[in-house]
Amino acid sequence: MKVFTTKKDLQHYLQQCRNSGKTIGFVPTLGALHAGHLSLIEQARQKNDEIVCSIFVNPTQFNDPKDLEKYPRTIEADTALLEQAGCDILFNPPVNEIYDDNEQWHLDIGEPEFLLEGKFRPGHYQGVTHVVYILFDIVKPDFAFFGQKDYQQFMIISHMVEQLHIPVKLVMCPIMREPSGLAMSSRNVHLTADDRKHALILSKTLNWVKDHFDRNKTGQLQNEAEQMINAEKDVELDYFEIVDGDTLHPADENSKKIVALVAAKVGKTRLIDNVILDHSS
Ligand code: PAF
Repeated sequence: MKVFTTKKDLQHYLQQCRNSGKTIGFVPTLGALHAGHLSLIEQARQKNDEIVCSIFVNPTQFNDPKDLEKYPRTIEADTALLEQAGCDILFNPPVNEIYDDNEQWHLDIGEPEFLLEGKFRPGHYQGVTHVVYILFDIVKPDFAFFGQKDYQQFMIISHMVEQLHIPVKLVMCPIMREPSGLAMSSRNVHLTADDRKHALILSKTLNWVKDHFDRNKTGQLQNEAEQMINAEKDVELDYFEIVDGDTLHPADENSKKIVALVAAKVGKTRLIDNVILDHSS
């Protein structure tokens, strides 16, 4: 696997790949890789000749400085995992390679910027769209792969790609779960053994809602789901919402795609998860 830390070297190499007719698949990450990330690499492998994975802990998307400081950084283990997974290129730039000193960014994301995660993490999606825009501009991938676990992120990046006419195809890959049902996340390393038990209420509740799904009873299902989670010890619910997958507004009879999304603090760790309940489009 080739490792680049400067955009100039990476771009030079990728241009040679493109000149020889190769397609480029891109998996942007914050590092602390787990099997969920590796499944993105695997999907990228199936569709592309050269796979680029970026590891960049993007400071602008962390609204809480403590969260940024606490974010796990495991570059040696990550590099070994990427090698094993057959990734071709790792891009691991320092902050000043991505951002110029006076760089300004504001994308009109519309309402989704302020709903769900946006309500609890002000500025988060400006930071995410900014860094993804810069990374897309450097890598110029044919395809880019993101996990469904960050459903709202995928939706917002799709809007950006459309709005700014960025020539990349986005692929949403399924959530990878531990055998217990817990959605894989880099933040899971912060969970204690007890937290891990309590955290299962999130996937259990999502599954329960999926099993009982009725598009005419979304309000009732949402209330029951909230009660189930609120009854769990050491779990502090931020939201459980059943929404239209395109607008993130409460689902209604016209919703083509319906998604249940949850965010909660389990012990000291904030987790998110979701399930697609209906996709009739
Ligand atoms: O989902 C993530 O890991 C990050 O938000 C991303 C897309 C790599 C941007 O920093």
